[in-house]
Amino acid sequence: MGKVIVVASGKGGTGKTTSVGAISSCLAALGHKTLCIDCDAGLRNLDIIIGMTEYTVTDFFDVLQGRTELLEACAEHPRIKNLYFLPAPAFHGPEEIDADDMAGLTAQIREQFDYCLIDAPAGIGPGFRLAAQGADMALIVTVGDMSSMRDGQRVAEELRSLGVRELRLIVNRVSGRNFRKLSTTVDDVIDAIGARLVGLVEEDEEVFLASNSETPLILYENKRAALQFLQIARRLTGERIPLVKRWSRA
Ligand SMILES: Nc1ncnc2c1ncn2[C@@H]1O[C@H](COP(=O)(O)OP(=O)(O)O)[C@@H](O)[C@H]1O
Ligand SMILES: [Mg+2]
Repeated sequence: MGKVIVVASGKGGTGKTTSVGAISSCLAALGHKTLCIDCDAGLRNLDIIIGMTEYTVTDFFDVLQGRTELLEACAEHPRIKNLYFLPAPAFHGPEEIDADDMAGLTAQIREQFDYCLIDAPAGIGPGFRLAAQGADMALIVTVGDMSSMRDGQRVAEELRSLGVRELRLIVNRVSGRNFRKLSTTVDDVIDAIGARLVGLVEEDEEVFLASNSETPLILYENKRAALQFLQIARRLTGERIPLVKRWSRA
């Protein structure tokens, strides 16, 4: 039975799409059949991050409407075995989608995939609720500033009220300079959100370069942020990998 994981944040730009692309690629590379879904209809860009703009023919609205079978609608990644992608509908908003239909889709996904990561729109609006309902786990992505942490708290409350049981926290774009200060903030936010930290990801210009060349991060570099996302993927599969306490530049 597969696991459906929604990736959410209060604020935009914290790295949700980056995280979905990077973690999905790593889970697939580790041998797990993995689907990533773009549920951010307003700002669809997961296809760019994983280099699949040319490969999609349909979207999950067609699957919900019964016009296409799930597996037919999912595009297979040309370079990463086990990785599949389903885009957001370009012309249909979340209010047009029935919650029961979405629950039916996540049930099918659990039968056919080991993992599914859903890229949710920022905030707690209808698109977020659509993406989150029916998820087994949520990854909340924050950056190290107080406002994104507080927004993360609000998202966590909303996720709990939607019945998402397991919440995990990713703190992204951490730089060596602010890490010492951040480590106390991270402890505070873990307490406030009530979510265990699943990983810290470094500010790394390769993330930007990889997305601009439409190449999954894991194929672009194999250190720093790419490695940190790989460790997050491993932790999600249950491997016990200690959390990094200090950045090592070695
Ligand atoms: N760890 C990182 N290091 C450097 N840049 C990053 C990192 N994570 C994300 N970014 C950059 O931040 C911007 C926003 O990331 P994105 O994943 O699109 O955020 P969101 O989906 O939450 O709006 C992008 O330009 C992305 O390349
Ligand atoms: Mg995004």
